[in-house]
Amino acid sequence: MADSSAQRAESHYFTHEPPPKDLKTNTTLARAFITRHADEGRRVVLVTSGGTTVPLEQQTVRYIDNFSAGTRGATSAEYFLQNGYAVIFLHRQFSLLPYSRHYSHNTRSFLDYMKEENGQVVVDQQHQDQMLRVLRQYTEVKRENRLLILSYVTITEYLWNLREVAQLMRPLGPKAMFYLAAAVSDFFVPQDRMVEHKIQSNEEFLQGAGASGGGNTKPPAARTEGKRLVIDLEPVPKFLKQLVDGWAPEAIIVSFKLETDPSLLVKKAEYSLKKYSHHLVIGNLLATRKWEVVFVSALDGEKWIRVPTNRRTKSFSGMPSLVGSADQLTKKDIEADDSIATEQGIPRGEPAVEIESLIIPEIESMHTKLIEQAEARARAS
Ligand code: PMT
Repeated sequence: MADSSAQRAESHYFTHEPPPKDLKTNTTLARAFITRHADEGRRVVLVTSGGTTVPLEQQTVRYIDNFSAGTRGATSAEYFLQNGYAVIFLHRQFSLLPYSRHYSHNTRSFLDYMKEENGQVVVDQQHQDQMLRVLRQYTEVKRENRLLILSYVTITEYLWNLREVAQLMRPLGPKAMFYLAAAVSDFFVPQDRMVEHKIQSNEEFLQGAGASGGGNTKPPAARTEGKRLVIDLEPVPKFLKQLVDGWAPEAIIVSFKLETDPSLLVKKAEYSLKKYSHHLVIGNLLATRKWEVVFVSALDGEKWIRVPTNRRTKSFSGMPSLVGSADQLTKKDIEADDSIATEQGIPRGEPAVEIESLIIPEIESMHTKLIEQAEARARAS
């Protein structure tokens, strides 16, 4: 087979960017987890979650980061588990985790849920029911060994882990799913253009222009010039192509597309689906992502999933007026669109609905159809 440009980019990236120290441990854990669930005939989903960092120095003091807290990934992982999947949760270290997310990254400390009684720590009365429910779910998942938690920090750590785990998931065929909710950096500092030490801001202590070597004659990608910090990042190859064509060719692949401009969302999601020929792109706007998403797939075309107005979760950064603004196709009154979710039997005036509780059952039924199609193809050949 001819060496495609995507293959060349992959080979260049992984030759020049060293693997993380815990990669071997992660692959050992992932291999055992996948083998067990493959033997039991279970579906396995790799959920990626949180943002990747871009270090500017080898002994990293400064790095570029993004906004993602890992809410989408951690919440989705819970609903996949609830729907019977085994979940490999590849997340940014210290971002939200399934189950514990209910008591972290909040305006409240987890200690606010507790009190002292007769020298013992107990959960206070008003939080008993919810915490008991979450604890039971978590304990059950742990007992069944259906959740494997792996972590990364940098873009390179993320990509090495993704590639290794994807290749391990191959024997699962179409029972493997990738749910790529992480916010992945598009630009980075290659190792051979990265200075070793902390970039100095004081002109009297400026270092020489030396990066770590490797024959690259370009100046360091992040450096000071006079009083200015200059950052000249290089593109990260789009590895979705390699995931679809090479690392896990039979797996079901769900990617996310994040935009801030409503007029671009659906077009960019369609473009991504066409370019990578995978199964589903979930488009979301930064300002409305907790209340609506759009599914773009070859199977079902464009389909909006929306939480009814009276069931939306609170969001400090969210902008309710933008709900429906990217829905170019129907342009209908979104208030009238409550039927999308109420059809599923959610009564009005009940507690807030997490949009992931609507997303995951849709994906599960799409997964079932795709497995059936794959089985029919296998029988016919
Ligand atoms: O964590 P939260 O605060 O809840 O936020 C959730 C979210 C908004 C981050 C999530 O819902 C989301 O949209 N994640 C994907 C954002 C993103 O990285 O989009 P993108 O356009 O950069 O990438 C599109 C796809 O290409 C992604 O699935 C990614 O895995 C893939 N990609 C990206 C960069 C890269 N170099 N190679 C890739 O293959």
